[in-house]
Amino acid sequence: MPKDKREILVTSALPYANGELHLGHMLEQIQTDIWVRYQKLIGNECTYVCADDAHGTPIMLRAEELGIDPESLISDVYENHLRDSKGFLIDHDNYHSTHSDENKYFSELIFERCKEKGYILEKEIDQLFDIEKQIFLSDRYVKGICPSCGAKDQYGDNCEVCGKTYLATDLIDPISTLSDTIPEVKKSLHLFFALSQLNNEAKSWFKSSKVQKQALNKLNEWIDDLRDWDISRDAPYFGFEIPNYPNKYFYVWLDAPIGYLASHKNFLSEDTEEFSKYWNEDTTTELYHFIGKDIIYFHALFFPALLLKANFRQPTGVFAHGFLTIDGEKMSKSKGTFILADTYLKHLDPQFIRYYFSTKLTEGIEDIDLNLEDFIQKTNSDLVGKYINLASRSSNFITKYFKGRLSEIDENHELLQLSNKAAEKIFIHYENREFSKATKEIMLLADKTNQYFDNNKPWEEIKKDNNSLLAHEVCSVTLLMFKNISIFLSPILPNIFKESQGFLNLKNLSWADLDLDLSGHTINEYSPLITRIEKESISRIIEDSKE
Ligand code: MSP
Ligand code: ZN
Repeated sequence: MPKDKREILVTSALPYANGELHLGHMLEQIQTDIWVRYQKLIGNECTYVCADDAHGTPIMLRAEELGIDPESLISDVYENHLRDSKGFLIDHDNYHSTHSDENKYFSELIFERCKEKGYILEKEIDQLFDIEKQIFLSDRYVKGICPSCGAKDQYGDNCEVCGKTYLATDLIDPISTLSDTIPEVKKSLHLFFALSQLNNEAKSWFKSSKVQKQALNKLNEWIDDLRDWDISRDAPYFGFEIPNYPNKYFYVWLDAPIGYLASHKNFLSEDTEEFSKYWNEDTTTELYHFIGKDIIYFHALFFPALLLKANFRQPTGVFAHGFLTIDGEKMSKSKGTFILADTYLKHLDPQFIRYYFSTKLTEGIEDIDLNLEDFIQKTNSDLVGKYINLASRSSNFITKYFKGRLSEIDENHELLQLSNKAAEKIFIHYENREFSKATKEIMLLADKTNQYFDNNKPWEEIKKDNNSLLAHEVCSVTLLMFKNISIFLSPILPNIFKESQGFLNLKNLSWADLDLDLSGHTINEYSPLITRIEKESISRIIEDSKE
């Protein structure tokens, strides 16, 4: 274990405030949360901040549809998101909103600093305008014929048939999807961030930081063709008005990542020194963004570029993950596999899916499949059959025949040596976000311990002799291993960890307590820590998720 305490700030992507969280969002938050809990477990200083992404046209339109103010929509959604994250045991140090004073302050500051350096450009551009709705249309709200291949019903940015990208104004026979009317082309002044002037500086950032191989390949493709980035939108828009540009608003993707700073600032409140320690250019602290593979561009190009020109630090790493599929397919409302976080929680313990996702998560960006059969089978067999079984089968004897007191335990016991060796590997796997490898290693240890118990048959020894030394030792070693395995699994199973400590009569266990000797220690009586997943719970989740 490294001696110096690292200081780490971690984020996961800010969910849009126009809908409920689903299992895809939870995959990301669970991945982040496990990594953060692991950092805390080994004694590093680690802060995890997140927020709702509350701005943009879809949120404005959704509020309109519901006949409420955007402010009241985002505050309802905020409560829901927070409830669901807590439900999945996500331990955010702070959960804020991009619609906040702090975010307004930092968005303006970063904008002004970029402007002073000549990185904000004004350009007049052609835009499609919906006359009936009196609104400029973003690419998502226009459809028409692809100018390249003639395919019908294509969106304003690219064609799903031939794959070509184009400008919305190039679509043939465009139609506004908001009003079904023909939009007109109208000129408007937009502000751009001069990304094209940044090729080399941007390159030097992602070459020097922790970015996954697959992401790096994409970045190298993009970097040769960097265009200036349009950061303004015309009224009506739900967001922050740009200083000195009346009726122009910051594009949601400008102020969204700045929301990371805002949430951290809100967390630290008046402690400006601590904030500077993390965000100054010359910081020695670390900053990591956990994101989905769909938003790499924003996090590995736009955001570092903005920070660079505004004299803030650069992210240490951007960690992208793949998308969640269910039974091999995209989540689908008609099949009942578009599973909301809340629906899951009504039927199952969050720790089951935290564990299942862990067995699937790697450092890569491949999609992750939740196979429902496998989910039941694997979690039952690993958690109940292998892990919890260690506690239930050995504690009975200790309580009944040895007054709850463990025997002397040989510190060179073969199983302890295995545990020490495994610890080194598990440590590295967690750090590298190879949770799948970590859980494999941990389950191997549980297997070995169960075999040891089986081979020594303490139930037979006890029958022969109520005070059997061998039975006493076997059950004691098994419980010591249960303690270690509980520590290894604790970032994934935080509630079970708490209850296990209660049962073991121990407190505040951390990584260093892998060395804690339990010779002569007295435990409490065991009561079941979890029960198996029943097939019916899954059927009910699917039923409740159908449209
Ligand atoms: N608001 C932006 C992020 C701004 S970050 C400064 C956004 N929001 S989102 O609600 O669409 O997605 C939030 C996160 O969840 C993203 O990292 C996204 O990749 C992730 N996921 C959304 N659907 C997902 C799956 N089906 N599977 C895995 N992750 C998914 O993007
Ligand atoms: Zn086409």
